[in-house]
Amino acid sequence: MLTLAISKGRIYEEALPLLAQVGIVPTVDPDKSRKLILPTNRDDVQFLIIRATDVPTYVEYGAADLGIAGKDVLVEYDAQGLYEPLDLGIARCRMMTAAMEGSVPAPRGRLRVATKYVKTTHRYFASRGIQAEIIKLYGSMELAPLVGLAHCIVDLVDTGNTLRANGLEPRDLIMEVSSRLIINKAAMKMKHREVMSFVEELKRVVSERS
Ligand code: ATP
Ligand code: PRP
Ligand code: MG
Repeated sequence: MLTLAISKGRIYEEALPLLAQVGIVPTVDPDKSRKLILPTNRDDVQFLIIRATDVPTYVEYGAADLGIAGKDVLVEYDAQGLYEPLDLGIARCRMMTAAMEGSVPAPRGRLRVATKYVKTTHRYFASRGIQAEIIKLYGSMELAPLVGLAHCIVDLVDTGNTLRANGLEPRDLIMEVSSRLIINKAAMKMKHREVMSFVEELKRVVSERS
């Protein structure tokens, strides 16, 4: 059995056509069912439906053999025990700093940055010699500068609509983000043939797309 960890929402929606092209189709719709283990048309493949930030955890501990996770999540999780053999090119966006339109880039006193990417943000500012105070949030980061919680944020930007709608503007690019296939190291050894045939098929499908 191969177990693939994946999050509901945009990664699932965008991964589904890729998985269908390698012949794997879930037989239960996660939006219509409360099931967290989804069977597929193949007896030897199942999906685990989990939060995006939990995907590397399930794969690192071997509760899932494989997973699909955003580069943002992987960098923040900082996993050592995972292979990351393939950029799927889906759920593309950018991790950026953003602040109120026209606001000064460097306020007096210590810079306060709101984000859910605490480690990545800390590393980013430290690498530029800035000792920022990082305020951990779990969502809706765009609100923080509006109400004076932070001077700026670090968040994902795609169309820029969310920033604009809240009077913010993108500032600096931290990284380009897309979703990656990740593999548990032990599964790579113990289920080498099954895992590699899945990876190779997926590689072919992804390269045919670009
Ligand atoms: P949750 O909803 O469980 O709090 P989440 O907001 O991280 O989690 P998603 O919005 O589905 O869940 O994001 C999953 C992944 O998709 C992110 O880790 C990132 O890689 C990518 N992503 C997030 N927002 C966008 C976006 N606006 N455009 C493109 N890709 C995105
Ligand atoms: C994500 C991200 C930004 C937004 C950026 O939120 O956290 O808020 O997309 O996309 P945009 O530049 O196209 O507006 P998401 O839609 O995932 O909502 P969430 O708050 O539920 O995570
Ligand atoms: Mg989101």
